[in-house]
Amino acid sequence: MAKNIAIIGCEFGDEGKGKIIDFLAEKADVIARFNGGNNAGHTIVVNNKKIVLHLIPSGILRKSSVNIIGNGVVVDPKVLFEEIKNLERSGVKVSPSNLIVSQNAHVILQKYIDEDRKAGASIGTTGRGIGPAYAAKASRTGLRVIDYINQNQEFAKQLRPFVKDTSLLINQFLEKNKKILFEGAQGTLLDIDHGTYPYVTSSNAIAGGICTGLGISPKKIGKAIGVAKAYVTRVGNGPLPTEIKDKVGEGIQKKGNEFGSTTGRKRRIGWFDVLIAKYSAEINGFDSIVITKLDVLSGLQKVKICTGYKFNNKIIKNFTTDLSILESCQPIYEELNGWKEDISKIRNYNNLPENAKKYLKRIEESTGVKISIVSLGPERSQTIILRREDLF
Ligand code: GDP
Ligand code: IMO
Ligand code: MG
Repeated sequence: MAKNIAIIGCEFGDEGKGKIIDFLAEKADVIARFNGGNNAGHTIVVNNKKIVLHLIPSGILRKSSVNIIGNGVVVDPKVLFEEIKNLERSGVKVSPSNLIVSQNAHVILQKYIDEDRKAGASIGTTGRGIGPAYAAKASRTGLRVIDYINQNQEFAKQLRPFVKDTSLLINQFLEKNKKILFEGAQGTLLDIDHGTYPYVTSSNAIAGGICTGLGISPKKIGKAIGVAKAYVTRVGNGPLPTEIKDKVGEGIQKKGNEFGSTTGRKRRIGWFDVLIAKYSAEINGFDSIVITKLDVLSGLQKVKICTGYKFNNKIIKNFTTDLSILESCQPIYEELNGWKEDISKIRNYNNLPENAKKYLKRIEESTGVKISIVSLGPERSQTIILRREDLF
């Protein structure tokens, strides 16, 4: 059994982290975000009701959980209070007893949003001021939450009761053996250091970001689980070697409802990329991965997984962040037979169609990483656990 678990995006974000965090949060005491800001959009569906969280951790729907916005997050106070209002409209109570904001997190100012809307166009950013806010932090011209609430600013008074030294708090929780879920935003390939730079976000989305983004020791993280889609998607610009540009891609896009939860933009679609999954598993040290949206692939005659890139007559087996290769390589595919059945109501692995099981097995074999959970729909109940030992 795991004590603390890091949930990390394996690809380009939107892998379904929100659903998985909310699912696992049933047994967690604390859920802590360590990176990003309201560029994130984490969707949770409970009894057909959809809630999209941008800043507040995805444990907030679980009554007994404490949710922490860590120092590595950039906070737009206006967005935070809009989100709290939205949650309260849906009957979810948010107060300083279930939401705590780090005093060292940096504040997103309007001028950062204005700057991002101009300068971020070539990257296809979310336009939420994320890049400029982190740039200001690194240049030491930023504004920390603690300094914001000590001044007379618009949301300062409202924010004050939520603010604490969250590093101290999390270390106290660790001391008391509380179960902590570390909630990653974005994904490994959007990480500022290890992603497809410059087509990345401006924070560390990998598990390494947990230590700096929350103020805890690497020794305390525990298990790391990657969330990967049964296919890949990407919003915004940048290379996507396995991109499907024909009707099959369009079909997956429609069936998977692949529109950005933050900006509403169409997500680009690609086949599952083993090189990416292996790269992510290595950088984050995944104990296992979760495969989401397997239901979306139902009905396809053939499904493909990419096991190599061909570039200049050479075969590349390891992912690279060299854009000149990523942008012009030819993916090498393994083709598997698809399955016709609707699998969204299946609750037992053994009842999955043989070809769906073969697809999952091939992912395990080719990546060398075990699958701990398979997700077959957005609801909590549409989840099959394969490896309990990696979970709470
Ligand atoms: P996140 O940013 O990683 O939390 O992912 P998003 O919430 O942005 O995008 C994932 C989308 O897929 C959301 O609309 C989820 O409700 C939905 N989703 C999650 N898991 C599944 C699944 O297994 N099947 C289907 N069909 N949808 C899912
Ligand atoms: P979640 O947490 C998908 C992408 C943007 C753009 C790039 C930089 O929901 O998985 P930014 O506004 O961060 O400067 O944009 O990163 N991006 C995401 N894509 N999911 C996200 O978050 C993302 N957050 C940022 O589309 O390409
Ligand atoms: Mg998202």
